[in-house]
Amino acid sequence: MDAENHPQGLLPEGVTSPAVLAERLEAHDYLADTGLATACFLALRLHRPLFLEGDAGVGKTSVGHVLAGVLDAPLIRLQCYEGIDASQALYDWDFPRQLLHLRAAEAGGERDPDRLEAELFDRRFLLARPLLAALETTPSVLLIDEVDRADDEFEAFLLEVLSDFTVSIPELGTVRAEVPPVVVVTSNRTREVHDALKRRCYYHWVEHPDFAREVAIVERRVPGASGRLAEQVTSTVQRLRTADLLKPPGVAETLDWTEALVALGTTELEPELASATLGSVLKYREDQERARQQVAGIVQETVAG
Ligand SMILES: Nc1ncnc2c1ncn2[C@@H]1O[C@H](COP(=O)(O)OP(=O)(O)O)[C@@H](O)[C@H]1O
Ligand SMILES: [Mg+2]
Repeated sequence: MDAENHPQGLLPEGVTSPAVLAERLEAHDYLADTGLATACFLALRLHRPLFLEGDAGVGKTSVGHVLAGVLDAPLIRLQCYEGIDASQALYDWDFPRQLLHLRAAEAGGERDPDRLEAELFDRRFLLARPLLAALETTPSVLLIDEVDRADDEFEAFLLEVLSDFTVSIPELGTVRAEVPPVVVVTSNRTREVHDALKRRCYYHWVEHPDFAREVAIVERRVPGASGRLAEQVTSTVQRLRTADLLKPPGVAETLDWTEALVALGTTELEPELASATLGSVLKYREDQERARQQVAGIVQETVAG
């Protein structure tokens, strides 16, 4: 995958349009709409990081996994969290191993401090964290997940790495990616991510799937579900999304709920059962209390419809 000399960018053989890419994604059980398929296509074609923003559970993280599948490349995941810093994302020196080596070298009679130091800061004592691992692995897909959880400083550092795909390690020198990895950055938008980072990327807002697509996702992912059940669950969840909830249910919740119902041997949703299994869909007590009545009503209607 030599991006510069490759007229197709990083697109796999034969992927000549977003529609063809959508078929490949579907072969890996991911059903993308035209907007998302086009975003993935352009990110690969133009070899730019893909920035996916959207509510929790709409299928952002899965895009990283599925692209790795389609490209047949390893997925390297950097999960962001509050307080994450550059060393946790890049590399660490393996201190215990360095110490062992030092003891062994001294026991062997080595006394020259310069020589000892040079030996200790050798590549083999370096632990590659996700960013360095991705620069050293060609081809690879680097998933930088939930970047909105990290702080401003870390974001600025990421921007730097994503701009030149090089990392300089004082004791060793500069590591440059032979071919920069395919990068997928996700954000649940718990805070705004800076324009500079977004500008570096191809940006796409991921919407909840429409009814037909979500039913298809359920049928694909929960093979034991009847078509009727898939439709009822999807329709109920989609209506709950428009309710005033602390955490509106995502596709993940639609799948969880359907799985729970299938595990109970259900082929058709009914109000009492819906209420008893609400924990699969709504994970806040306030949401459950607020929605319980409503769910009964919605289910009543979907059963009738
Ligand atoms: N378009 C889709 N096609 C297939 N599965 C999907 C799709 N969207 C979401 N899912 C499934 O829904 C679940 C949640 O997706 P995930 O990628 O974790 O969401 P997010 O990262 O946006 O919170 C996963 O099991 C994923 O496979
Ligand atoms: Mg996610």
